[in-house]
Amino acid sequence: MCPVCSLCIIFLLFVFPRAESCLQCTRVVRYLHEDFLAGVSDITVQDQIELKKIIDHAYITYRDTSRQYHGVIDPTTLYRARTEYQSEFRRHWTEETTGSIHWDMITIVEKGKRILEKHLKVFVAEGLCPNKCGLLYQSVMNCSSCEHGLRTCLSTTSPRDCGEHHLEAEEGDQVVLDCFLPWHTLVMGQPDYHYSWRPLTQNLSIEGDYKVLVVTPESKIVLNQLRVEEQGVYRCLLQDSEGTTLSRTHFILTVNPLPLTTPRQILIQPTLPHWFDSRPVKLHRDFLIILLALLTTLCFMACLALIVGFR
Ligand SMILES: *[C@@H]1O[C@H](CO)[C@@H](O)[C@H](O)[C@H]1NC(C)=O
Ligand SMILES: *[C@@H]1O[C@H](CO)[C@@H](O)[C@H](O)[C@H]1NC(C)=O
Repeated sequence: MCPVCSLCIIFLLFVFPRAESCLQCTRVVRYLHEDFLAGVSDITVQDQIELKKIIDHAYITYRDTSRQYHGVIDPTTLYRARTEYQSEFRRHWTEETTGSIHWDMITIVEKGKRILEKHLKVFVAEGLCPNKCGLLYQSVMNCSSCEHGLRTCLSTTSPRDCGEHHLEAEEGDQVVLDCFLPWHTLVMGQPDYHYSWRPLTQNLSIEGDYKVLVVTPESKIVLNQLRVEEQGVYRCLLQDSEGTTLSRTHFILTVNPLPLTTPRQILIQPTLPHWFDSRPVKLHRDFLIILLALLTTLCFMACLALIVGFR
């Protein structure tokens, strides 16, 4: 190792205090390096010390890298970064060695920084505070202190409110209400969905009294055999075990009544035998179908008879 590099590293060690950072927050990565140092033969004590310095310095650059990306990482991203680094590290020492152990060590820990950076970039873009609405306490690790904590992700535009859906259905139909949002899977503890209902009033922005329908760990409910009286505002609240509302979704349901069956009966009545009047509509239909079938068969037979007769 060149004396200038050693000096450089020692200088950096003075400038930056020793601190923990993302990648070596995991025991896997620490052991990976320690095992490697313990395993190399044919090197002097001085070399050992220098390799150790290179690793320690890398830890500092990892921390600084993560600081550029909010200084936190989630368990999934950390897992991805460390498994990639782990396999790169193993591959490096079997396939890419140059003969200079110092140089090789610098190359691989630098690669570790790039791996970390790559994963942090994705995490900040997609994984950090992924909720566009509502409130999320996201479990993250502080890349400087290696401590786990909860990051408060509160959407500024519309706190808690996660939209309003307008639904329309026919009487007797069913509708599915589902207020699931992908970030709900990141909520810690056992959150519950609270569904409640109130009648449709003129002004939707006035919060009325809601009647509790169901509290369930499932995000969706099914309303069967809809009746017109069931239309109204359905509210879905996701609440954590402390009772804090994390997201709120409204469904405004309109139930259209089926066209009245009585006028049709009146129209059909004169053509039907009088004893049929009191039967339900379904029977009328069945009767008509049988009648049509009978008429068709009769027609068919008459035709056959005519054909045979003319021959
Ligand atoms: C991480 O921990 C350090 C030291 O405890 C603290 O100064 C810093 O603000 C924390 N960073 C975040 C993003 O919470
Ligand atoms: C509904 O109520 C809100 C607040 O009370 C009010 O600002 C809004 O103008 C009302 N809208 C209608 C259509 O009456």
